[in-house]
Amino acid sequence: MSTTFLAQQPSVAVEALTPAIGALLRGIDAASPLSEQQRAAVRRAVHHHQVVFLRDQQLTSEQFAAFARQFGPLGAHPVDQALGRQRPTSIIEDTPERPPAGFDWHTDLSWTEEPPNWGFLRAIEVPACGGDTLWASGRAMWRALSATMRQWCQVQRLAHLPDPELLASISRRHGEAVARRILEHHHRTVHPLVRAHPATGEPALWICPLSATRLVGVDRATSDSTLAMLRQRIDDPEVQVRWRWRPGDVAVWDETSTVHRALTDHAPASRRMERCTTAGSRPRPAV
Ligand code: SIN
Repeated sequence: MSTTFLAQQPSVAVEALTPAIGALLRGIDAASPLSEQQRAAVRRAVHHHQVVFLRDQQLTSEQFAAFARQFGPLGAHPVDQALGRQRPTSIIEDTPERPPAGFDWHTDLSWTEEPPNWGFLRAIEVPACGGDTLWASGRAMWRALSATMRQWCQVQRLAHLPDPELLASISRRHGEAVARRILEHHHRTVHPLVRAHPATGEPALWICPLSATRLVGVDRATSDSTLAMLRQRIDDPEVQVRWRWRPGDVAVWDETSTVHRALTDHAPASRRMERCTTAGSRPRPAV
């Protein structure tokens, strides 16, 4: 593994974890405001590696939100919007009584008109073993496609819908009316299948198996088989990075070019994470 010190930010070291995706950042204290140079270094690292990890950050919830805000205004979660509450962060908690949700690979809130730009996660309590999170690179998946497949995918549009399991869990926790309201507002959102990165323009496959339902204007059988084929590409270990959490770890990732998935193998052990996202923009096609 190579460690490179960015030319103008001698205090931030970036160590790639795989050639395709993921890097460990050293030299950042997320509890304190970052310098302009550090912010630029984090931005570059996230754009390049798509997900970065910081070890040993002892953050309060307020410090975590303040760290994330340095990269954009925080996005409101549709559940919070439906409940009329304003919370910059939310907690994901697994306990013996409430086992992990086990959501499929996804990009957070891909079913909204303007999905988040970056995702942030911090580990508060982690199991002795298990409960890792995996990220996969839509950019690496795009690069692995044949030229013909790229050409075809580039002009496709994909309909996204809040996942039924997510709606069921919202309904259990907050009542059916809230789940209904969310579905009314987000019943079918169409985004490009190949998304241009909002900052760099780089193309990435943006497929979100949890909530992507159908390619628009394509017959059902072709849509199903194409999405199944693209979905399989996420399982290629060469497009993935897997993070084994320690308390105090922070992950920062590019929601516009990745999918992620938390494992459930730690059940019934407890796991407590805090998450937030920065507000995003309408996805642009990469053509
Ligand atoms: C998520 O699926 O958005 C959360 C990931 C995690 O809990 O590791």
